[in-house]
Parts: sequence; C-alpha cells; structure tokens
Amino acid sequence: MRAFNSSRVHQLSPEELSVFRQLDPAKIPQHVAIIMDGNGRWAGKRALKRFLGHQQGAESVQFVVETASRIDLPWLTLYAFSLENNLRRPRSEVNFLMKLLKSYLVGNVKRMNENNVRMAYIGRTEELPSEVRETMQWASEATAKNTGTTLTLALNYGARTEIVDALRCAVREAIATSNGDMNRLWEQIRGLEEQDVSARLYTAGMPDPDLVIRTSGEQRISNFLLWQIAYAEIYVTDRLWPDFRGVHLLEAIADFQRRERRYGGLGVGDSFTDEDIEGQRNEAELARS
Ligand code: FPP
Repeated sequence: MRAFNSSRVHQLSPEELSVFRQLDPAKIPQHVAIIMDGNGRWAGKRALKRFLGHQQGAESVQFVVETASRIDLPWLTLYAFSLENNLRRPRSEVNFLMKLLKSYLVGNVKRMNENNVRMAYIGRTEELPSEVRETMQWASEATAKNTGTTLTLALNYGARTEIVDALRCAVREAIATSNGDMNRLWEQIRGLEEQDVSARLYTAGMPDPDLVIRTSGEQRISNFLLWQIAYAEIYVTDRLWPDFRGVHLLEAIADFQRRERRYGGLGVGDSFTDEDIEGQRNEAELARS
C-alpha cells in the first residue's frame, strides 16, 4: 500500500483522522466536485433569514478546503453560483452572494497561502460585477504559486453554456484557419473529436471529477460539469451544506473507495466468452434430443 506523502495529515482533527485512516492512499480521487446545497433550508430550520445560511455556507467552504489540502487532494471544484442562480434569484440575494464571495476571498487568501491552495474559477465570470472580478483576479494571482490543492469556484456557471462556448470557440478557430475555403472548413469541423471539446471547456487542463458530492439530499446534477462527470461517482448526502465539514468529505471519499468503477466495462470477476454461449447451445441441443 502506498503511504500518504502529505506532511499535513497531522493537522486533521481526531474525528477526521479516524476516517482518514480507513482510506486507501492509492485510491484517493484526483478531483472532487461539490454541489453545495441547502443554505436556505439550514436557515429556515432555525427560523433565520436566508442570508445567514449563505454566511454559514461560506464557513463550511473554508473548513472543507482546508481538509482537502491536508490530505493533498489535487483538485476541488465547488459550485458556488450558477447561471440559473444569477437569473432566477432575487437581485438582493444575488447582490448578497457577490458581497459574500468578495469578503470570503479577501478574508481567506492568507489561509489559502498557509494551506498551499491555488484559486481558480470557471464560468461566465466576465458577466460578474467588475469589483468582484477584480477581487477574484487578485486572489488567483496571490495564490498562483501554490502547489497543493487547486480550489476552483464555479461562478456564473452553467454546463450547457460551457459546452456552447466550447463549440463556438472550435468553430471560430476552424473558420480562422480555413481562409474562406468551405471544403477545408468542413474537414476541420468533421475532424473534431471528444478531446477537442474537452480542450475548449473552462476546465481545460483539469482532470475530470472522479467524485461528485451533493448536499441536502436532492438527487440531481443541476447543470454542473455535465461533460466532465460522464464517469464520475455520485454521492448524495442529506446533510445541509452549512453543516458539512471536512470529516464528511472524508466519509464521501471512503464511500467512493468502496465503489467499483467500470467505465462501461465488466466488473471484477465477470467474464463473457464465446465458449459460454457455445456450451449453453450444446446443453439445449442435448436436452432437445
Ligand atoms: C445553495 O443554497 C447554495 C448556493 C446558492 C450557492 C452556494 C453558496 C455558498 C456556499 C456561500 C458562499 C460561497 C462562497 C464560495 C463564498 P440554497 O440557497 O439553494 O439552499 P436551499 O435549496 O436550501 O434554498
């Protein structure tokens, strides 16, 4: 068994350590993506205003990021603000989420650096308010040299839009290189393969998620990383996001490690041979005669 090479495992809490010790170091996922859901319900259950749920949700983000960094999880992607949130939530809630994001970044860049976390973003971030974009850029530049976990925040993100953007990009490139020659243009478009789409997604250069976690019990993907999660394992917990901590991330990874990933192939110990069918046919013929 490969040993964990992280030097920061000792910083896990005793509760986290007891789950962590059950993990197989060779099967730690490369990339975990989380649909953080349930902030509103968390607040509602306590007769609090929704904004307090979001505020508590931002606290959970930092707990989970730090645990991820302590176990050397290479990639962690969080669905922080969808295109649909931007279009369908009251303006005052959207404005609050933008302020919260800004203050989260300002308040946590120091800790990101202490934890060797690099910040990145995916989504139509160019549509976010300019003061938020400036803070985002500042945070990614301030953490750019870190080599531990890459924390990617999906902001103003929608997976279908991401695929549309990738296709637009591929077609634009094909037009630019075909110099008005329609046959050449068609050859370029006909030559597009899956990896050409992947290379033009916002996540270009990142491995696909191995594990998607969704909190608050909803069994849906909500337009998150649709292309990238083709073979991901999905883990749904009833726990609401503001109650989610590092130990729950480790529990999800333990569950992931118990799964058998098949990628469309057969499971371990399964077989299918021509002889199986042949043998069956012979038996049937024998019975008939
Ligand atoms: C879902 O709760 C969550 C969101 C709308 C976005 C996630 C936002 C945070 C965790 C807070 C801040 C994040 C960062 C990165 C600072 P919901 O409002 O849909 O909950 P509900 O379904 O219970 O109403």
